[in-house]
Amino acid sequence: MSIAPTTTSTRLDLPPLRLGGITVDTPVVLAPMAGITNTAFRRLCREYGGGLYVSEMVTSRALVERNPESLRIISHDEDELVRSVQLYGVDPKTVGAAVRILVEEDRADHIDLNFGCPVPKVTRKGGGAALPWKLDLFTGIVQTAVREASRGNIPLTIKMRKGIDEDHLTFREAGKIARDAGVAAVALHGRTASQFYSGKADWNAIAELREALPDVPVLGNGDIWSAEDAIRMVQQTGVDGVVVGRGCQGRPWLFGDLMNAFEGRDERHQPGLGQVADTVYRHAELLVDTFGNEMMALRDIRKHMAWYFKGYVVGGELRAALAAVPTLEVLRGLLDQLDRTSPYPGTDAEGPRGRAGSPKRTSLPDKWLEARQLNPEQQADIAAAEVDISGG
Ligand SMILES: Cc1cc2nc3c(=O)[nH]c(=O)nc-3n(C[C@H](O)[C@H](O)[C@H](O)COP(=O)(O)O)c2cc1C
Repeated sequence: MSIAPTTTSTRLDLPPLRLGGITVDTPVVLAPMAGITNTAFRRLCREYGGGLYVSEMVTSRALVERNPESLRIISHDEDELVRSVQLYGVDPKTVGAAVRILVEEDRADHIDLNFGCPVPKVTRKGGGAALPWKLDLFTGIVQTAVREASRGNIPLTIKMRKGIDEDHLTFREAGKIARDAGVAAVALHGRTASQFYSGKADWNAIAELREALPDVPVLGNGDIWSAEDAIRMVQQTGVDGVVVGRGCQGRPWLFGDLMNAFEGRDERHQPGLGQVADTVYRHAELLVDTFGNEMMALRDIRKHMAWYFKGYVVGGELRAALAAVPTLEVLRGLLDQLDRTSPYPGTDAEGPRGRAGSPKRTSLPDKWLEARQLNPEQQADIAAAEVDISGG
């Protein structure tokens, strides 16, 4: 892989990230992304750099019911030394039972809870980013999860958004409740649910949370597209570590750049087209191992194509064929048509990628915003609200 020096790096004196008994030498976290951060993608990213690599989210109910897909999601390669799992749930009992399974069956070394999902199917039932609005429910889930996790000495963290919208922010109280419950860290994505992925992440909110919670690690998330962005976030907000999502889609080498930057080295990965093609093929092969099924693996790799080839010289027809590739053999043939000598295109291959969308009013259960506690009707609905969903 071509590695080129930059002139922008600054040495950060950021200590390793400590999550309970786990030490993460490079204070960088691969953000949980449903449909993306499976064992195959985590392996690709891990090979470039240090950090903590979180699974796709699994719903607590699916795990408690031992749905086969949920067991696939929480599986790890043998050489994943920190087995990190993200749980989604809305009911303290079910979340507690899911944490207990992970602990008693020794299936995780770190557990994260998802309170950031903005999709209507989830928030309409009071889940995801809608949930911290109900202080009693949020407290119940986090306390139960921390208690269950502590039985196995497993650090439990939470990941949340700023709130439902600018008039209904939740991150300040939620951060304090989580800290008081004994979480090992709090991660904040600097957007509200109603922003979805639009606009810019608000790093000021991240700085504010960092200052409000001096006694627990705070991780910043949102709009880190390069190692330089990560350094800027640390400098501007004082966070203890960064959480990187879309920026590594089609760029697993970003974790190498992040490690270099955090260790004060100037080298950045700048792969030519041949190296990108090799990574795509390897990603597809790893997905075949992950799914145990070539058809599913190839269906999965298709969504990564536009990200991998962003900015590179690839003809329109070839792009379309790659995005519909049916087998490893066809993939090999298509990749062989690329001009392997084509160099790194520079800034065209960098910057924003992946989900963007536009702001929308958040769908919520009836009368959700009227009070910060559940009413009896909402309380009764909550146990039934563990929908089978994916995404965040
Ligand atoms: C495709 C996709 C899937 C996601 N799935 C999850 C998820 O399962 N759990 C979660 O907490 N966040 C999820 N997120 C949100 C990311 O973890 C992250 O908070 C968000 O993308 C903002 O960070 P970024 O600007 O670095 O991408 C997802 C985001 C994307 C784009």
